[in-house]
Amino acid sequence: MKGWKRTKIKDLLANGQAGTDIQVQGWVRTRRGNKNVSFIALNDGSTIHNIQVVVDLATMGEEILKDITTGACIGVCGQLVESPGSGQRVEVQARSIEVFGTADPNTYPLQKKGHSMEFLREIAHLRPRTNTFGAVLRIRHAMAFALHKFYNDKGFVYLHTPLITASDAEGAGAMFQVTTLDVANPPRTEEGTVDYAQDFFGKHASLTVSGQLEGELGALALSEIYTFGPTFRAENSNTPRHLAEFWMNEPEMAFYDITDNMDLAEEFLKYLVRYALDNCMDDLRFLNDMFDKELLGRLQFVLDNDFKRLTYTEAIDILLAANQKWEFPVKWGVDLQSEHERYLVEKHFKRPVILTDYPKEIKAFYMKLNDDGKTVRAMDVLFPQIGEIIGGSQREEDYNKLLSRIHELGIPEKDVWWYLETRKFGSAPHSGFGLGFERLLLFVTGMSNIRDVIPFPRTPKNCEF
Ligand code: 4AD
Ligand code: MG
Repeated sequence: MKGWKRTKIKDLLANGQAGTDIQVQGWVRTRRGNKNVSFIALNDGSTIHNIQVVVDLATMGEEILKDITTGACIGVCGQLVESPGSGQRVEVQARSIEVFGTADPNTYPLQKKGHSMEFLREIAHLRPRTNTFGAVLRIRHAMAFALHKFYNDKGFVYLHTPLITASDAEGAGAMFQVTTLDVANPPRTEEGTVDYAQDFFGKHASLTVSGQLEGELGALALSEIYTFGPTFRAENSNTPRHLAEFWMNEPEMAFYDITDNMDLAEEFLKYLVRYALDNCMDDLRFLNDMFDKELLGRLQFVLDNDFKRLTYTEAIDILLAANQKWEFPVKWGVDLQSEHERYLVEKHFKRPVILTDYPKEIKAFYMKLNDDGKTVRAMDVLFPQIGEIIGGSQREEDYNKLLSRIHELGIPEKDVWWYLETRKFGSAPHSGFGLGFERLLLFVTGMSNIRDVIPFPRTPKNCEF
C-alpha cells in the first residue's frame, strides 16, 4: 500500500470517479456475503454513510476474511467502481486488504446493533464508533465551528478566560475546589480553619462556574468579546439537562442594552440551527429517522418564527391562569422550574420564548436594576424540549448601585475589587449572555439526555473515561 494516498469515505462517496485506484481505511461495520463474494461495510467517521468493499474470494482467497469482523480496522486498496446495488453510487473492488487491528467477535461490545443509550454510556471509550455518536460528534464539531464563525464575522474577539479562579461571586453554582494541600492533613490557622495562605495560589481557589466576570473586563476594552470553554458546577443535580462539566459560550458586549442582547441571542440561535440544516443534513436525517421524527420540523420551526418576548411577571400571570397541576407551585418571586418553562414554550406560545425582568432576589448581583427597584434586566431564552438554553442580562454599570447590591448580598468587596474598578474607570452600558453548548446540542440533535451530546460526560459519581 506504500505510495497510495488514502481518501476519506465522505469524499469517495461524493466525488470519487469510477475507474480510479484508491485506498480507504476504516472500521468494519458489517460483513456479509456468500462463498464467492464478500461485502464489507466500512466507515471512517468522515460521514454517517459506509462505503461498500467488494471482496472476490476466488482471487483474494477466503483466508483474509477470518480477521475482517465487525469492529476490526482495515485498509483496502482497490478500484472504485460503479455500484450495481441500490443505495450507493460507487463501491470499492478490493485488490489487497491489510488488517490493522482485529476485534474478537466474542468480546467486542458493539458486535450487535441496537444497544441502549444507557449501555453505551458505560462504554464511552467505544461509543464514538456507533452511527449515533458519530452523527452527534460531527454535529457538535459543526456547531463549535459555526459559533466561532458567527462571532468572527461580527468582529467579536475570542477571549480566553481562566478555568481556575479565586472568585466565587457569580454564585451560579457550587464550585469544585482546586488545591495542592494534603487534604488528609491540611495546614491550619490559629483558629483551626484550613490555612489556604499556604495553598498553591496563596488563597482558596476553584474551577470556574462562568467566564462572565472576566469577559466583562474584556468587553470594557475591546467592545465585543466572547468566551467558549469548559465550565464546572458541583451541584448534585442528576437530571437529563445538567452536567458537572459543560461547555458554555458567553458573549459580552459594550454599548448593548437588553434589547440588543435579545436580538443577538435570537439571531445567534437561528444562525446555528440554519448552519446545522445547511451542513449536517446527512447526520440530522439519520437522527430524525432513528430517534425523533419531529426533529427536522422542530429545527425549521425555530427558523421560521420570532421568539416570543415577555416579562417574568406576565409569564407568572399566564402560569397562574393555566389549568395545570404544578409540582412546584407558582407565585410571583419563585424561580421558574423546567415544568413552567416548558409549559410556556410548548403549550402556551408554541415557540421559543425570551423572559425578561426577573425579581432581583432570584438573579445574580451584577444584573442591572430596573426603575421599579424590584426587578432586574435579566433575559432567559427558553426552548422546546429543553427549557432554559440561554441566560443573560444587561449589567449594572453604575458603581454605587453595584456596590450597594454587593453589600446587600454580603459579597466580600476584597473578592470583587477588580470588577468594581471597571465601573469606576470608564464604565459603559453593557450586556451579555451564556449559552449552554450541550443544551444547544440537545435541541439540534434531538437527543434526550445531556450525557449523550458530550464525548465524556461528567456527572455525580461518573468520571471513568
Ligand atoms: O444561566 P447561567 O447560570 O448563566 C451564567 O452563568 C451567566 N454568567 C451567563 C452570562 O450572562 N454570561 O448559565 C448559562 C447557561 C444556561 O442557560 C444553561 O443553558 C447552561 O448555561 N447551563 C448548564 N448546562 C449544562 N449543565 C449545567 N449544570 C448547566 N448550568 C447552566
Ligand atoms: Mg440561568
